[in-house]
Amino acid sequence: MSELLDLHPAPADVHRLVIEGLSRTPKQLPAWFLYDAEGSRLFDRICEQPEYSLTVTETALLERQAAAIATALGRGTLVEFGAGSARKVSPLLAALECAGLEPAYVALDISAEHLSAACGRLQQRHPTVPILGICCDYSELDALPDHPLLSGTAHLGFFPGSSLGNFTMIEAERLLTQFRRLLGPGGKLLIGIDQPKPVQRLEAAYNDAAGFSAAFAHNLLTRLNRDLAGTFELERFRYEARWIAEASHIEMALVADQAQTVHVAGHDWRFGAGERLITETSAKYGPDDFLALAAKAGWRGAGRWSDPAEDLSLHLLVQADSDA
Ligand code: AVI
Repeated sequence: MSELLDLHPAPADVHRLVIEGLSRTPKQLPAWFLYDAEGSRLFDRICEQPEYSLTVTETALLERQAAAIATALGRGTLVEFGAGSARKVSPLLAALECAGLEPAYVALDISAEHLSAACGRLQQRHPTVPILGICCDYSELDALPDHPLLSGTAHLGFFPGSSLGNFTMIEAERLLTQFRRLLGPGGKLLIGIDQPKPVQRLEAAYNDAAGFSAAFAHNLLTRLNRDLAGTFELERFRYEARWIAEASHIEMALVADQAQTVHVAGHDWRFGAGERLITETSAKYGPDDFLALAAKAGWRGAGRWSDPAEDLSLHLLVQADSDA
């Protein structure tokens, strides 16, 4: 049986973050607010859409290269940041087991229900691998909790899906620095990074024809209405995803159809006609730009695997001061 620790941010923190986010210009909340149980379910559907090829491409790459990656990772506890459905880790665990490296696995995710189901499923596929789930905002974690699976020092970080892209450059550097600390001296990080592509392809990936991207964004308003006594009328906000070339990111937003006032988290919030509530941004990095960013956070590249079309890369990072 896998075990679950609950370190979800307290309701008072959630309340404060909503007030901070809606006070900004433009209005924007932390991306993890998108992932309640329904948001996590909708995100899984996005990953199945033909326009959003990232998940399929990365999963195939992991399956194809699992043995080589396992050898490069070596022995240690695999710590996944933002595990979601924890499907991508399975080929890696199988390859580590096959190589006799006796892996343990720790999954961090904000969505408790989703995490618990994911760890349960994974445990059935890998009955002898010790598995721990930790429900938390991994971007604000100062230390990994005291737990026998985390008693060693050099952990193996796993951060697939290009989730680093959902942070600004400054936040991304801070996060990579924090991962280096959390993983400990000698720790390594396997990270998936989506690369720049033609604009039309990118905009379609974040606005799929079946409407799951739009539903995922609108679910944020449903969540605010439910958890923070909000009065958002969903049909009065139109979903839009656009490429912002200067920032090399996709910006996803809900755009107010007309001027309106919404009550949420105990305050009234004015939206002008056409005003955007940014739900998320998703930055794309070429391999050199990504390695330059990682270097600022004290990492250096020790391996890279890519799909034949060079749509995304899996980079293996080691600590800049290590001999590995
Ligand atoms: C989780 N993250 C990497 C996704 C992305 O591609 O930025 C989130 C997403 N949101 C809408 N579509 C995908």
